[in-house]
Amino acid sequence: MHFQTTVLLPLWTGGCMGLASNKAIPPSQDPWYTAPPDFESAAPGTILRIRPDPSNVTAVVDAAAAYNILFRSTDTRYRPSWAVTTFLVPKNPLETRKVSDGAAGDGKAALLSYQFPYNSATVDASPSYLLSTNFGVNLPGLTPQSAYIAETLSRGWYANVPDFEGPLASFGAGPQAGHAVLDSIRAVLSSDTLHTKSRDARYAMWGYSGGSIASTFAAELQASYAPELDFAGAAVGGIVPDLTEVFSKPISNVSAVIPAGLLGVTAQYPEARKFLVSQLKTSGPYNATGFLRTLNFTAPQALEYYGLSNISEYFVNGLDGLYKAPELARVFGNNEYEGYLGIPQMPLFVYKAIHDDSNGIATSDDLISHYCKVGANILYHRNTIGGHAAEFDNGVPRAFEFLSAVLEGSYAQKYNTTGCTWVDVTVNVTAPFTVGS
Ligand SMILES: *[C@@H]1O[C@H](CO)[C@@H](O)[C@H](O)[C@H]1NC(C)=O
Ligand SMILES: *[C@@H]1O[C@H](CO)[C@@H](O)[C@H](O)[C@H]1NC(C)=O
Ligand SMILES: *[C@@H]1O[C@H](CO)[C@@H](O)[C@H](O)[C@H]1NC(C)=O
Ligand SMILES: *[C@@H]1O[C@H](CO)[C@@H](O)[C@H](O)[C@H]1NC(C)=O
Ligand SMILES: *[C@@H]1O[C@H](CO)[C@@H](O)[C@H](O)[C@H]1NC(C)=O
Ligand SMILES: *[C@@H]1O[C@H](CO)[C@@H](O)[C@H](O)[C@H]1NC(C)=O
Ligand SMILES: *[C@@H]1O[C@H](CO)[C@@H](O)[C@H](O)[C@H]1NC(C)=O
Repeated sequence: MHFQTTVLLPLWTGGCMGLASNKAIPPSQDPWYTAPPDFESAAPGTILRIRPDPSNVTAVVDAAAAYNILFRSTDTRYRPSWAVTTFLVPKNPLETRKVSDGAAGDGKAALLSYQFPYNSATVDASPSYLLSTNFGVNLPGLTPQSAYIAETLSRGWYANVPDFEGPLASFGAGPQAGHAVLDSIRAVLSSDTLHTKSRDARYAMWGYSGGSIASTFAAELQASYAPELDFAGAAVGGIVPDLTEVFSKPISNVSAVIPAGLLGVTAQYPEARKFLVSQLKTSGPYNATGFLRTLNFTAPQALEYYGLSNISEYFVNGLDGLYKAPELARVFGNNEYEGYLGIPQMPLFVYKAIHDDSNGIATSDDLISHYCKVGANILYHRNTIGGHAAEFDNGVPRAFEFLSAVLEGSYAQKYNTTGCTWVDVTVNVTAPFTVGS
């Protein structure tokens, strides 16, 4: 068994002057997105393929270089699998900045793994494909999500952006996401760009909402699945400790994700998928055809299509009837609940709106208490202002503050390094996020 891990990281710089063209093709049509033969025998985190990112993402986020890396991973049923990540190199890396220049660094490299809430059941919504077009959404007044990667790079940190739902777009499959995040970080740390530095690199995770699910499962699974990894910290916002709570509200601001969640979590369970589809109505305005269209939707497309329609209407016995079936209960049990697979060993910054309208604060309080009973180190902010969408923006400055501290070595000076601190905060960020502010 031989994988090429060394020859494929040339001194390639993606950014050329002016507008670069975007040569990416959808993963479902791109033969690069397939596992090489015998990939199963490689260790999880092994790099199986690597290429310069074919899109113009380097121009979009002002990176020195960007690579797509396909690596060995483990699926949600703990079978050998693979996934893809995008690894971005800053133009002015932290470790090369002189302390005398006023930079915060102490010569150590910093890597941030950012988990995008892509919340989709199609592999063509994967960040490796959509990051360069900001997930196809460029609305005035809305912070482009790629701005968070641009900010990461402008701070001199390397960025890792995993397609954690894997090749089957298993949105809502917790262990799948956790494994893929951890293996993407293993892969990136072993790449030629980072491996000589990785002994000294600090690395952390960040994710909001769907991205928090992937990050939290990774944090829980780290001790058992990737015990050699030593995270500096993780920031998770808009947490969703029990995704079935979201699935249970047929009409809400986030109910448009339910079809993708149900199809995503059953993507690796053919029997449960068959059962799910058998429960869809075959006629009337809410029928199987409309529901299954989500297999081709990005999250914004799903929102546009389903809006505030009653998702329960798609099922012969409604969502309640569907969830009573043991076929789904078992799948949910293995995939949707945080707090059961391990205790995060790294410092956590957790932030959530008390009036989060996607899932209530109660399960978040429970999860944090559960972790705190057994020695976790957590700063937990409960924001009195805003709902799920508002807290996404309201949390960004506090998340970057925490991530800077853990990635640049000042955590012990600025935060409590043991135990849990619960704080009700009142934060309303009124200025839009801009890179470098
Ligand atoms: C990247 O490519 C897209 C689509 O081809 C184009 O619209 C955009 O302007 C390009 N962006 C940059 C910064 O080059
Ligand atoms: C949707 O979000 C808005 C603004 O955040 C909020 O006012 C509204 O109550 C929410 N709607 C539902 C159905 O939860
Ligand atoms: C299924 O739903 C779609 C969208 O509402 C509708 O256009 C179509 O006619 C429906 N099909 C049947 C067989 O009722
Ligand atoms: C998704 O799109 C592909 C290609 O356009 C099409 O062949 C397929 O039927 C679509 N699937 C659904 C469920 O709409
Ligand atoms: C949503 O649809 C279900 C199933 O038809 C129905 O029982 C329920 O009352 C509906 N909810 C609302 C708020 O209309
Ligand atoms: C550290 O913990 C103490 C006691 O719980 C608390 O008062 C203080 O605000 C915490 N400091 C930080 C930076 O969270
Ligand atoms: C938060 O700020 C926004 C403007 O950015 C404002 O519309 C909103 O009323 C503020 N919310 C509260 C509760 O102060």
